[in-house]
Amino acid sequence: MHADLIIRGADIIDGTGAPRRKGDVAVSDDRIVATGDLKHWTSGREIEAKGRVVAPGFIDPHVHHDAAMLTQPDMEFMTSQGVTSVINGNCGFSIAPLVPKGEIPAPLRMIIEDEALRFETYAAYRDRLLAEPAAVNAACLIGHSTLRVNELPDLNRPADAAQLKEMCRKLDRALGEGAIGLSTGPFYPPARASTTEELIEVAKITQAHGKLYVTHMRDEGDRVVQGLEETFTVGRESCCGVHVSHHKCAGLANHGMSVTTLKMIDDAMQKQDVGLDTTPWIASSTILDSGRHRQATRVIVAESIPYPQMAGRDLSDIAEEWGTDIDTALQKLLPATGIFFIMSEDDVQRILSYEHTIICSDGIPSGKHPHPRVWGTFPRVLGHYARDLSLFSLEEAVRRMTSMPADRFGLGGRGRIAVGGFADLVIFDPDTIAEGATFETPIRPAVGIDRVFVNGREVWVDGEKTGARPGRPLEQTAPCMVV
Ligand code: ZN
Ligand code: CU
Repeated sequence: MHADLIIRGADIIDGTGAPRRKGDVAVSDDRIVATGDLKHWTSGREIEAKGRVVAPGFIDPHVHHDAAMLTQPDMEFMTSQGVTSVINGNCGFSIAPLVPKGEIPAPLRMIIEDEALRFETYAAYRDRLLAEPAAVNAACLIGHSTLRVNELPDLNRPADAAQLKEMCRKLDRALGEGAIGLSTGPFYPPARASTTEELIEVAKITQAHGKLYVTHMRDEGDRVVQGLEETFTVGRESCCGVHVSHHKCAGLANHGMSVTTLKMIDDAMQKQDVGLDTTPWIASSTILDSGRHRQATRVIVAESIPYPQMAGRDLSDIAEEWGTDIDTALQKLLPATGIFFIMSEDDVQRILSYEHTIICSDGIPSGKHPHPRVWGTFPRVLGHYARDLSLFSLEEAVRRMTSMPADRFGLGGRGRIAVGGFADLVIFDPDTIAEGATFETPIRPAVGIDRVFVNGREVWVDGEKTGARPGRPLEQTAPCMVV
């Protein structure tokens, strides 16, 4: 028996949650061809991995790398933390299908800064990714706000019947072309005026394709309960599976609310298809004028177009230096993004360890001072939360970043170390793995990630990218499961 590559003597954590076992993993071309004791096998290349874990490459189900796939195709912020597949187009904002040529509203323009990177159809975006591959695989949701931007001259209104019909037509086409589901973001201005009925209508189209309704809910703060209720209503009325993005309870007044929200999710799951993901940080990140600063104990400016030198500084320090109040300083900094300390550690840990929670980064890779989640999310869960705090086992942590997102979104052949599956693999040191990124120094690779393979090809080795770009556009190839 012969393989292209054999990883020898590793602790195999296969992504299913099963206890690790010692063994070898053989890869030929883009597939895993054997696992276990492979001492009778020969190979073109051997990697000794004693004392290391080999796991399925991590799947980040919530990122905003739609444009970065093309502008930063090495995707080091993903590969350096072991991520081999991502899902783009979240929070209601996708790069396609996007028709307007001129000005587009925030936060859409934050994700798609380059005007040349607008795609009128999902197929055109997918073809571009095929022609100019990135280092990681990527599926893409279709953003409800993007659909609104196409059809509504005035975004401060619900869509009328004709506009909604055209939004649904474009959504139907994009899902037919391989987009993986629908995302909505009624929290953000471009969709704030949308009614629950409007959300139900687009969810119905998604349901007809057997795909998911993924949502940055209308409220994650004082009205998080109502946000969840609306999400469940959309799911029930459309019969579509719903997925709550980056679940959090924002604002001091709402600390501890996750006891209630997780109970609500539990109850809803008895009656309908519900899922969720979250990020392992007490700070969130979004546009600076999101209103979040009123709920935060601290705000760091991530990026400011007129005052780029203020990136990385506290909003309160800037206001003091300028001799103004916080709101005046904030207005001067726009357009800008911020990092908001708005969650409690108790809620973060309760949501992270809830049995149905998938891990995501919610990363936006722009600017000099992003949130550390862009570079550090997955190693933080494996190191800080699993190893150091024992929030769950390492096997369980890996499951939440591999087979769970794969099963939730129907990414067949991904998220497990299994014969016949794609050779998306990460080799890491369980004793040292940790995020390198901090709130002070957010652009820094993780520690303890030795090697990362995408479709059988190495993309990250010992702290360096290889330059290989074996990533592919991903489609749903299996039913979306409740995980
Ligand atoms: Zn969001
Ligand atoms: Cu997001």
